[in-house]
Amino acid sequence: MQTSIRKQLLELFSKADGGFLSGQMISEKLGCSRTAVWKHIEDLRKEGYELEAVRRLGYRIAQKPDKVTANEIHLGLETEYIGRHIHFQETVDSTQKIAARLGYEGAPEGTVVVAEEQTAGRGRLNRQWYSPSGTGIWMSILLRPNIPVHQAPQLTLLAAVSVAQAIEEIGITVGIKWPNDILIGGKKAVGILTELQADPDRIHAVIVGIGINVNQQSYHFASEIENIATSLCIETGTHVNRATLMQRIFANMEKLYKEYLQNGFTVIKVLWESYAISIGKEIKARTMHETLIGTAIGITDDGVLILEEKNGSIHYIHSADIEI
Ligand code: BTN
Repeated sequence: MQTSIRKQLLELFSKADGGFLSGQMISEKLGCSRTAVWKHIEDLRKEGYELEAVRRLGYRIAQKPDKVTANEIHLGLETEYIGRHIHFQETVDSTQKIAARLGYEGAPEGTVVVAEEQTAGRGRLNRQWYSPSGTGIWMSILLRPNIPVHQAPQLTLLAAVSVAQAIEEIGITVGIKWPNDILIGGKKAVGILTELQADPDRIHAVIVGIGINVNQQSYHFASEIENIATSLCIETGTHVNRATLMQRIFANMEKLYKEYLQNGFTVIKVLWESYAISIGKEIKARTMHETLIGTAIGITDDGVLILEEKNGSIHYIHSADIEI
């Protein structure tokens, strides 16, 4: 099917919002015959769309294919720039690597790199991030904020809030473990890795890598993470459409990002704190150099964790693995 006709047809269905469109109406809008409409509908079926056909009512999309291609994400996307440029590949080593290249090549703000599978997904603290095909959201978002370099960690917290809000919208209660692990019932469902392209005094790009376990079953997880990881599907008991979830994350993120650029970190900090599960608790923080035990008493205005040891000494933690 020609891309423009396919796009127009999908837009008509999107406007109908799950309702029926008559064959006559489609043929008028697309300027083609009823037979051509029927052929286009068959093509959509071949692409994985479930289309219901009812006499006198016409056609309606009963189920979209669960793919994270640019087409699926663009249809119904409500943002101005986040997600407007999508680089989709079936398999990549790491979306972070591709986004970093695009960052140096001058890709616009809001560019997203997404893949069905990563063969060398990267996590925080040089860990590997398991990213099997077709089950999760593995994506990197490129931002170009005009902020001082030391404030970049704030964007990590902003990203965590955007994802937490989108997951809550599908009815799951989440918590954020500093800085940005999203947990459901104590198990990790989302990890975020933020990387910078910057001179000492200027940020060129921030690459926010987000990994979300969406439709995995417990048996999909490697044995070493089986007890500490979960997915949205395990938690809701239903399959979650990944493209729709991405659209919600982009919409939340763009709204928060605009607020942040205009008014600073205050609102984001309050929202982040409303999800925080580590604050006020006894924690163990493993940094590169030492392990500290104490109470997490809050975060600074730059998003740095404040830990108070029993003897009253205060530590500012920029990067660590936290155990609650
Ligand atoms: C963590 O360790 O918790 C962070 C995990 C971040 C994983 C995502 S998946 C998309 C992007 N590409 C990568 O290689 N890593 C990030």
